[in-house]
This record gives sequence, C-alpha cells and structure tokens, in this order.
Amino acid sequence: MNTTATPAPAHARADTGPDIECRGLVRIFTVADIEVQALQGLDLVVEQGELVALIGASGSGKSTLLSILSALDVPTAGQATVAGRDLPALSSRERVTYRREVVGFVWQQTGRNLLPYLSALENVQLARAIGGDRTHPERATELLDLVGAADFADRRPAELSGGQQQRVAIAVALANNPRVLLADEPTGDLDEHASEEVLRTFEAANRELGTTALIVTHDPTVSEHVQRTVQIRDGRTSTEVLRWTHTDDEGREHAMAEEFAVLDRVGRLQLPTEYMDQLSLRERVRLRLEEDHVGVWPGDRATRQKAPEAGAAPEPGAAPASDAPATETDADGQPLTRRQLREMGQ
Ligand SMILES: Nc1ncnc2c1ncn2[C@@H]1O[C@H](COP(=O)(O)OP(=O)(O)OP(=O)(O)O)[C@@H](O)[C@H]1O
Ligand SMILES: [Mg+2]
Repeated sequence: MNTTATPAPAHARADTGPDIECRGLVRIFTVADIEVQALQGLDLVVEQGELVALIGASGSGKSTLLSILSALDVPTAGQATVAGRDLPALSSRERVTYRREVVGFVWQQTGRNLLPYLSALENVQLARAIGGDRTHPERATELLDLVGAADFADRRPAELSGGQQQRVAIAVALANNPRVLLADEPTGDLDEHASEEVLRTFEAANRELGTTALIVTHDPTVSEHVQRTVQIRDGRTSTEVLRWTHTDDEGREHAMAEEFAVLDRVGRLQLPTEYMDQLSLRERVRLRLEEDHVGVWPGDRATRQKAPEAGAAPEPGAAPASDAPATETDADGQPLTRRQLREMGQ
C-alpha cells in the first residue's frame, strides 16, 4: 500500500522555462495628473525552484512588482510571465484561477493572511477546499508539519505569536501546491528571532516541495537564507548577490558570495551610488573597451581625458575620439581622477 500522502503537484513542471520572467516592465500610476513611474523597465528572471530575495529602499517598486506578479495589478507596458502564463493577457476569470492555483502569497500583515475565527488547521483546509482539492485530507496536517506549526494546529490566530501566524500563513499559501510563492515583507512585523524562523520556513518549503519563491524584505539577514538577493532601485533591478558553497581540497565547506551589477538586454546597468559620488560621475561618463573589462571615467569636459586607444571601439555613450583631448595619466597609465587633477592644481 502506498502510504505517501503527498499528492503530485497540481501544476507539474512539464515546461523548462523560468517560473518568473519580467522584461522591460513599466508601471505608471497617475494621481491628480501627476505620473509616478513605480517600475521603469524592470528585468527579472527567476528560474524554477529558485529562492530569491528582493530588497530595496521604500518606494523602489517592490510591492508594485508583487502586485503584478500576483495578477492583482497590470503593468503599463512590458512583459510579465509566471509559470508560462502571460499575465497582462489573462482575462479576469483566468486571473482568479491563476491566483487560486498557480501562486501563493504571504503578506506582511498577519491579519491579511488568516481568517481569525478558524484554527490554523481549518485555515489550511479552507484554502484547499477553495482550491477545489478535496482529496488527501491529511495534506493540511502535513503542511502544518512542514512549517513547524503542527503543535498549535488547533489554535486560532489570536492565540498564536506573529511568527507562528506567518508560518501558518506559509502553509495556507502552499495549500494548493502553487508553482510560485510570493511574499511581501513577511517578516516586517516580527522580531529578529521570529523573522529567522519564518525565513527558515521559506527555505524548507523551497527545499522540500521545490516551490519557487520570491520574498520582498527589508530584513538584512535574508541573504543568508537564499541563493540570490536582487536589489531594486528606482523601479529597476540594479545589483544581485549570488551565494554558493565552495568545498576546499580538505573537504571543508565555505559560504561564498559575490555582488554583480545587473546588465539589461540593451546594455544598461546602474552604477552603485557610492561609486558615482566618489568619482563625481554625473550625466555622462567616458567608456573604454579593454581586453577583459570596460573602464568608466568621469565625462566632465573640463577634465582632460585621453581619447580611446586605437583599435578600442568606443562604447555607446563614449565621446567621439576627436573630441577628447589628451589626458594626464597616473603611473599605471590610468586617467587621473578629478580629485587628483584638483590636487595637482588643474
Ligand atoms: N496605487 C498607487 N497609486 C499611486 N502611486 C502608487 C501606487 N502604488 C504605489 N505607488 C507609488 O509607486 C512607487 C513604488 O511604490 P511601492 O509600493 O511599489 O514601493 P515599495 O518598494 O514596496 O516600498 P515599501 O518598502 O515602502 O513598501 C512609490 O512612489 C509609490 O508612492
Ligand atoms: Mg512595499
């Protein structure tokens, strides 16, 4: 007899494409004739089974993106595909089915995730019933087990801590075996210890069920729990931190991390603000193609810059070679920074 109660995922993965794919996503809100560009051509790809954190300052467009990915809102322009569904093209009926079957959400406010008059178990059972799955009645208990909430399955939300409520909320979000789990600041109202437990629960869901997850958060510890942290700035993805484990020759494991700037399909990237401030990079910069990298210099006309060397094709944005006067260089042949030139009295 088969004792495995876990049903096959409702949305088995026949396709191989990414679970989330946003290309050039734009969302403009108009309030009293004033336009706010919440998303300004955002690109984001999340592969099947990835656990990704999305971080960014307040107002950078995180919740706007999640509203679009959860089909509660539609983009002004651009492409948004989740689990193969072209979101802007869905009819209102298809949106309801999509929200019920393809994605699960966890919101910041615990009260938005759970019905107050039902126990933890009944909340998960109700979500399964709404999803139309009346098979495997034991599945709700299994999910509470997965999120570490089995001990308080009979308690109502008011009888649970904030962290416990969020873990039950994750079980509710997983009730119908969604392909993708979306969470908007799920730890925003929690203390450090409870946040840690909730993030571990997302990790467990991702590991045990293979659910793709995108978590929006301000929590600085999130990067320890995910493979990839994507930073959003002014409505576009700007940098990514990738994490992996390296095993050395003696078999010891080391956690590794590296930060990358995001380059979009037409070659745009955002320079970190601190780089721009330190080198006074404003409005236009000079680019030079080197053998294995691209150099970026302040483009201030008052700064005497060397023309790109012969054979090095100027990149878009670089000044024409004939416009560029010879520059002062340092001992390594690099153009001097404006500060160095100022110090030399130029
Ligand atoms: N419904 C709306 N109408 C008008 N402007 C909006 C609307 N929703 C969001 N915005 C604006 O879009 C921008 C992005 O907002 P969004 O809520 O996505 O930011 P966020 O990154 O989630 O911020 P936070 O970290 O504070 O939650 C902000 O300038 C915001 O004021
Ligand atoms: Mg938000």
